[in-house]
Amino acid sequence: MCGIFAYLNYLTPKKRSEILELLVNGLKRLEYRGYDSAGVAIDSKDENVMAVIKKSGKVKHLEDEIKNRSSELDVDAVSDIHCGIAHTRWATHGVPNAVNAHPQRSDKKHSFVVVHNGILTNYKEVKVFLEKKGYNFESETDTEVIAKLVHHIYEKHPNYSFRELVEQTIQQLEGAFALCFKSKYFPGETVATRRGSPLLVGIKTKKRLATDHVPIVYGKGDSETNHSDHRLHGRTNGDLELLPRSDSTTEFEVLEDKQVEYFFASDASAIIEHTNRVIYFEDDDVAAVRNGILSIHRLRRLGDDPQSREITTLKMELQQIMKGNYDYFMQKEIFEQPESVVNTMRGRLNFETGCVTLGGIKEYVPEIKRCRRLMLIGCGTSYHSAIATRQILEELTELPVMVELASDFLDRLTPVFRDDVCFFISQSGETADTLMALRYCKNKGALIVGITNTVGSSICRESHCGVHINAGPEIGVASTKAYTSQFIALVMFALVMSEDRLSQQKRRGEIIEGLKNLQDQIKAVLKLDSQVKNIAEDLYKKKSLLIMGRGYNFATCLEGALKVKELTYMHSEGIMAGELKHGPLALIDETMPVMMIVTRDPVYDKCMNALQQVTAREGRPILICEEGDEETMAFGYKCLQVPRTVDCLQGILTVIPMQLLSFHTAVLRGCNVDCPRNLAKSVTVE
Ligand code: F6R
Repeated sequence: MCGIFAYLNYLTPKKRSEILELLVNGLKRLEYRGYDSAGVAIDSKDENVMAVIKKSGKVKHLEDEIKNRSSELDVDAVSDIHCGIAHTRWATHGVPNAVNAHPQRSDKKHSFVVVHNGILTNYKEVKVFLEKKGYNFESETDTEVIAKLVHHIYEKHPNYSFRELVEQTIQQLEGAFALCFKSKYFPGETVATRRGSPLLVGIKTKKRLATDHVPIVYGKGDSETNHSDHRLHGRTNGDLELLPRSDSTTEFEVLEDKQVEYFFASDASAIIEHTNRVIYFEDDDVAAVRNGILSIHRLRRLGDDPQSREITTLKMELQQIMKGNYDYFMQKEIFEQPESVVNTMRGRLNFETGCVTLGGIKEYVPEIKRCRRLMLIGCGTSYHSAIATRQILEELTELPVMVELASDFLDRLTPVFRDDVCFFISQSGETADTLMALRYCKNKGALIVGITNTVGSSICRESHCGVHINAGPEIGVASTKAYTSQFIALVMFALVMSEDRLSQQKRRGEIIEGLKNLQDQIKAVLKLDSQVKNIAEDLYKKKSLLIMGRGYNFATCLEGALKVKELTYMHSEGIMAGELKHGPLALIDETMPVMMIVTRDPVYDKCMNALQQVTAREGRPILICEEGDEETMAFGYKCLQVPRTVDCLQGILTVIPMQLLSFHTAVLRGCNVDCPRNLAKSVTVE
C-alpha cells in the first residue's frame, strides 16, 4: 500500500515553497500507508526539465532534502497555475531506495512522470515490449513501465490529449492501480485514474461550487467490445493495438469562479485540512484537469452506468480520519481484512481455471516437490499462521510438515538437512529469532522460502525465494490482517503443490471456491462487531479467559489468547479441546470465562464432547459456531455465528471475532490498543 498526493492550483497564485509544503504535508498524512521512501515532482526553473526529488526513508527525509535544494528549486517563484505530484511508498517491487521511489519517469527529461499505488501483474510483459522499443529501465519497480508506456504512445500520437494518452496506457495494464500523471508536454495539467486502488479528489474554491455533480463523459467504445483484447497479452514484438479515439471533448465547468485548487489523494486524511468537498473515483474513471476544469471520462457506457459523480461533503474531523474512520490503527486493520485478503490473492489465483501462480517461488516449485519435509518457522502470530495451515499443507503436499517456534527451534539445534524446505513467516521480515533460524537453516543447505509483508526486509533479502503477502502496512503492534494474509499465502502454496494431482482436484476446487467467497464472508463476520462488544462488556473485568477448540480451529484459540494477553494484559490461554480432560477441566466452574469454537468440521463430534464436559461442570461457554447451527447453539451461554466455509479456511472466519473481542476488551480496560506496554512492532533482538 502506498500514498498518492497531487496538488493543482489554477489562477490561485502560490509560491513554489507553498506548493512543496502542501505536497509534503499531504504525504505526512498518508505516511501510515507506507514509509519506505517518498518523492515529489514539480516544475522547475528550467522549463524543459521537471524537478523530481526522491529520498529513501520517511517523508521527513524528503522534506530535509527539499530544504537543502531550495535555491535550485527557486522556491520563491510564484505560479498562478501549477501541478505537483507526490508519493510515499510501501515497497512491493524493488527494495526501498531513491531510484525505486516514485515518481517514476519516462526519460531523463521527465517527459512523463507518474505516482502509483497498487501492483501491476503484467508489468514484465509490458517491460519486454518497451525494451524492444529501445527503452532502458533504471528501477526495479513495476511502475516504471507506466511512465515509459505513456511516453511511447505519445511519441506515436503527439496530437492526443493528456487524458487520451493515459486512457490508452491503462488499457494495457493488468492488476491494481491508482495513478497520477504529470507531463512537461502538458504544463498545469494532471490526469488521474484508478482500478482496484482508492483515489479521490478534493475541490477547493473561494466561491461555492456551481453544482454538486460532475457529469461523466462517456467515450464511444461500444459495450460489446472486450477492451482487454487490446492488451499486449504476449504480443511483445509487434505494436500496440490502440482503442478507437473518442471524439468527445466535453468539459463541464463546475465552478462559479475560475480560481480553484484540486487535491488528489489515496484517502481523505490528506485533504480534509484543505477542503471537505470530494469526489470518490470509481474503477476506470479517468479524471483530467485542464485549464482548471475537471472532467471525468469513461471509455464506454453500459446500461445503468451513472451520468455523473457526486461531489460529497466529508463529515469528518481531521483527527478522525488520520486512522481512516477508525479510532485505532488496529481497529482499522481488522476492518481492512475484506480488502487485504483479496490483495494477497490478486494476480495469483485464477478463480475460473483454478490455476495458482506464486511468482516469487515459481522456479523453485519442482525442487520443493522433491523435498524430504517442509518446516514452517516463525514467532507469535506468524507462528500461529503456520499452525493454522499445517493440516491442509500435509493433506495437499503429502509431505511431513513441522511447525516450529523460531526461538525453540534454535535452542534445540534442530537437525536440518539439504533436502528440507524451510519457510520463514514474518510480517516485519526483521524478527531476530526468525532471522537467526533462517541463517541456521541456510548454513545447513536447506532451501529458504520467506513469507513476509515487507519488501526489502532482511528475511526477504536472505531467502532463496518467497511470497509477499501484500497485506499493506500494519501499524498496530498487534498483528491482525497480516495473520489472515499469511494464512491465505500458505493455503495458496498448498494449492500450487497439488496442482497436478488428480486425486486432489475436488478438494482443491472447494478450497478455491472458499477463497472466492472469503471477502463477502469476512464482511459478514465484521458485522458481529457490536455483539462482540457486548461480550467484551461482560468479560473486561475478569482475570482470565480460556479459549478452546481443536483441529483447524486450534490456531484460532492460540491466536485469540495471544491477542487477549498482549492487548488487555489479562491472562488467557488457548487450549486444545482434546487435552481438556488431561488437566484444564479442573479450571472449569461457573465463574471461569470460557470461549469454545465449534464448527461442523471433521472434529465436530469431539468438540461437542468437550462442550458438554464444560457445561456439565457448570461452565458457561461463549460459542463461536456456524450460522444457523441451532443444535450447537443450544449448549452455549452466548453465541457468535460466523458463515460456513470449507474446513481449512474456517479459521480465518473464527479468528476475526477474537481480534474484535481483544480489541474491545482492551478499550474497555483503558489499555493502549495500538502500542501495548512492553511490546514493539518489529522485534529485532533475540
Ligand atoms: C502479536 C504479534 C507478534 C508477532 C511476532 C512476530 O500480535 O504481532 O506476536 O507476530 O513478534 O513478528 P513478525 O511477524 O514481524 O516476525
